[in-house]
Amino acid sequence: MSYRHVTGANSGVGFAIAKELAAESNGFHVILAGRTPSKVESAITEIKAIGRGANGLTALQLDVTDQNSIEKAASTVREKFGHLDVLINNAGIAPSGPDLATIFHTTFTTNLVGPVLVSAAFRSLLLASQAPYSIYIGSETSSIGKITERGSNLRVTTAGSNAYRASKSALNMIAMHEQLELQDTAIKVRIMSPGLVVSNLRGTSEQARSAGGYAGDPTKSARLILSILGGERDEDASALIVTDGVCPW
Ligand SMILES: NC(=O)c1ccc[n+]([C@@H]2O[C@H](COP(=O)([O-])OP(=O)(O)OC[C@H]3O[C@@H](n4cnc5c(N)ncnc54)[C@H](OP(=O)(O)O)[C@@H]3O)[C@@H](O)[C@H]2O)c1
Repeated sequence: MSYRHVTGANSGVGFAIAKELAAESNGFHVILAGRTPSKVESAITEIKAIGRGANGLTALQLDVTDQNSIEKAASTVREKFGHLDVLINNAGIAPSGPDLATIFHTTFTTNLVGPVLVSAAFRSLLLASQAPYSIYIGSETSSIGKITERGSNLRVTTAGSNAYRASKSALNMIAMHEQLELQDTAIKVRIMSPGLVVSNLRGTSEQARSAGGYAGDPTKSARLILSILGGERDEDASALIVTDGVCPW
């Protein structure tokens, strides 16, 4: 059996990824991790309700800001499955308050330190797989090239966008550093951006979820993950991968 583990799997992009991976034809057992067990259970119920998950769905408590929770989750996967084929570091936040210090601390703890610690804790499980992937969910808003480009649609700022974008720029480095570090192993390291899609990242009102109607369907982001796992984007291995190409750093 082939095991895929998604952090922050109960909502938005992570949920869409879990749902697509859980399609029977893909043959994957999906491990849905989230910080709130009841939300993860609801996500699993929803996936089963659309007739998916025949190859197995497992709920896992994992708060990426809590080292004990990360270690416990990795131990559970080791005991139950012995190895992991795909780790998807998806959990992320984009707070706009209550103050600058809190915004920076919480954003970096979740979006950067979290994935670093999760990857470290699950590495030996990936190394036990025949064809492992370590995938990071980045963001085009991390692109210094794009925010300095005249006319770019990223030339706007909002409260907290400096922290969010900087955390994702640093995540680009973490992913490429891990790729270098693991170049002599079987682990393929990738970073991709889901694009602007409907989720709770910007808030839970309909206006915020849909970014005023501009956000797309996260199923498209999930299909990008499937194409990466299918080897279709191997030529973009050392870039920030987006649906229609690559995004400049
Ligand atoms: N949506 C977009 O347009 C967009 C664009 C570019 C990149 N992204 C990236 O896509 C990823 C997923 O975000 P999303 O848009 O799907 O937002 P979302 O709907 O808010 O989902 C974020 C997920 O992360 C979880 N999470 C937050 N803090 C966590 C923690 N400490 N430990 C474990 N899980 C935690 C959330 O759990 P709770 O439900 O418990 O809060 C939720 O499941 C993020 O990395 C984000 O930066 C999104």
